[in-house]
Amino acid sequence: MRLKAHDPRSKHIKRVLKMSVPTSTILWCRSGSEFTRIAADHVAALLARKPEAVIALPTGQTPLGLYAELVARAAAKRLSAAQARFFNLDDYLGLSVDHPLSYARFLREHFLMPVGVAEEHIRLLQGDAVGIQTECGDYEAAIEAAGGLDLAILGLGTNGHIGFNEPGSDWSAQTHVVSLSQETRTTHVAQTQGKFVIPEYGITVGISTIVAAREILLLVVGGGKARALAAFRAGIPDPKWPVTALLTHRNLTVLAEAELQSAAVADVMVPH
Ligand code: GLP
Repeated sequence: MRLKAHDPRSKHIKRVLKMSVPTSTILWCRSGSEFTRIAADHVAALLARKPEAVIALPTGQTPLGLYAELVARAAAKRLSAAQARFFNLDDYLGLSVDHPLSYARFLREHFLMPVGVAEEHIRLLQGDAVGIQTECGDYEAAIEAAGGLDLAILGLGTNGHIGFNEPGSDWSAQTHVVSLSQETRTTHVAQTQGKFVIPEYGITVGISTIVAAREILLLVVGGGKARALAAFRAGIPDPKWPVTALLTHRNLTVLAEAELQSAAVADVMVPH
């Protein structure tokens, strides 16, 4: 149904539509290679502009292509991450940094070591720190001492989490310990083919730490992300969907696979 311009309802509909358009840009990628190239170009542009950039990194399946591409570019001397400084976004609580399930180990193996980052430029969360509250405070202090995050690269949880900030998280929180939701733990059990017991708690930089980053790159891949992306595209900040905390960020880029474009629109009406 099309409303005539003078119909009083058209004004209301226009207002609703305006609210439902996020301020950020969503770039829809038609292939994995396009996704990887655009994401890598984004990071490369930052490193060219600011070689000593401070970057927070995600773990998971989503950024694997990006990491491989950055490593390949570094090997071909088309990029250098040697002066940049890196933090991770999250990890499981209680795991040592070399535990096979730890995000610290994942990042070292898939990105930090092969791309050639010096040890003194790496600060990863210590999931098994004895004084975990002290570790949280120290981590924030380290980010601040580095000058704050220039770029936070984020994946997206099926329930809308960013880092390990689960639905209902306090948006004013900095690095803290979180209780992982059943949905998150179930997803992770499947990802690890049931080989590991997924810890009940995680440690994550908080949403306030993430949104303080000067630039954010949100990467969205996988059919399971449709509802969370739909909530984001609805354009209304809602603590039930942590990703919507990014809506008001001034320098946010969202890269999403094109398959999610229609799915996300269709799912937007699905109640949480
Ligand atoms: C995990 C991590 C997040 C990650 C997300 C998406 O729970 N805590 O940091 O971004 O899930 O993971 P994937 O890229 O494997 O879908």
